[in-house]
Amino acid sequence: MEADAKALSLLHRRKPGHALDQAFYCDPDIFALDMARIFQTDWLFVAPACTMPKPGSYITHRVGGYGLILVRGRDQQIRAFHNSCRHRGSILCKGAAGHVAKLVCPYHQWTYELDGKLLWARDMGPEFDPSAHGLKTVHCREVAGLVYICLADHAPDFDAFAAMAAPYLAPHDLNDAKVAYQSTIVEKGNWKLVWENNRECYHCAGNHPSLCRTYPEDPTITGVKADGSFPPKVEEHFSRLEAVGAPSRFRISADGQYRLARMPLLDGVQSYTMDGKIAATKRLGRVPYLDAGSLMKFHYPTTWNHFLSDHSITFRVTPLSPTETEVQTTWLVHKDAVEGVDYDLQRLTEVWIATNDEDRRVVEDNQMGINSPAYEPGPYSAIHEDGVLQFVDWYCTTLQHRLTPARMAAE
Ligand code: FES
Ligand SMILES: [Fe+2]
Repeated sequence: MEADAKALSLLHRRKPGHALDQAFYCDPDIFALDMARIFQTDWLFVAPACTMPKPGSYITHRVGGYGLILVRGRDQQIRAFHNSCRHRGSILCKGAAGHVAKLVCPYHQWTYELDGKLLWARDMGPEFDPSAHGLKTVHCREVAGLVYICLADHAPDFDAFAAMAAPYLAPHDLNDAKVAYQSTIVEKGNWKLVWENNRECYHCAGNHPSLCRTYPEDPTITGVKADGSFPPKVEEHFSRLEAVGAPSRFRISADGQYRLARMPLLDGVQSYTMDGKIAATKRLGRVPYLDAGSLMKFHYPTTWNHFLSDHSITFRVTPLSPTETEVQTTWLVHKDAVEGVDYDLQRLTEVWIATNDEDRRVVEDNQMGINSPAYEPGPYSAIHEDGVLQFVDWYCTTLQHRLTPARMAAE
């Protein structure tokens, strides 16, 4: 309650068009609210489905205090469970990913089916009811090869997002993908600074020499214009791609939580490589033009993505503490593409490995400066940082609606 009141008063005194108060980037109470009211309330992207290719393939994940297992069942469905045994609570799977026939607790070997049912528990006596001790489930949905979970008891609607995203994602055939490479880095900065940095390219010229070979600095590419307009060149690009069955026009949810748009890259550019040509000759997806640009999707609070004509890249944002955020990047190629033949791993990954590291540095520098007592929220550029403002507005509006005083006033 006290934390709610503190957050509400900070939100009320927020200066429009300005960065947030220091507390939003470092205060443990605000961080706890972010975790409870956003990360434990909303749908969160976890991984591409192809990271769990076969029945028994699993991955683990952690969101705040919650350890999770996601596993593909014999029926091909991916399910999510709390990674805690129903006997005395031991963690079930310790590895980041792997393959199991059953989920067996390492402590006393209680054994669970891939759908979470308890199959076997030794010497628990005649009264014991295995059916009452299945693994606790977590909401889990898949759309076009992307897996999401929700930790809330009652998950918000997922269908509207799935309906908007599925046609955009369909030409990318993510169910025919495999992981070419995955990187996991920790940025010593608040998760909102990771997002703010992602939502503008004001910093690109000064920080991203590799990315700038292919990615336009044009603020209309990253940002969200209030009137929804685009330059004629971008409109032509949308029309050209839509005419061949690749949904491209900018769409954003009414609450601003997710957006899809297939944006052009620099003239003649095909992919995020040092020379701008495709990285994978056996292409992932059916977008007919090599220079189709990038289908850019963001979905707060956990993911932004680039879906290209030859490969796709997913990004996952996971807060670890008020001033630490994990960013996991996954490069996807066609499942039959052979490394060294159809793609060169370094060529495929070098631009975004460098870009991620450059972004890590600017986010960490941003956090260090904000930690100073002298920090004062400064103004966003109306030309270059409307995307940042769009994110911050989404965050403030979402949090405010979910704070206890606001909820009490509404009741
Ligand atoms: S805690 Fe898992 S079997 Fe005992
Ligand atoms: Fe960047």
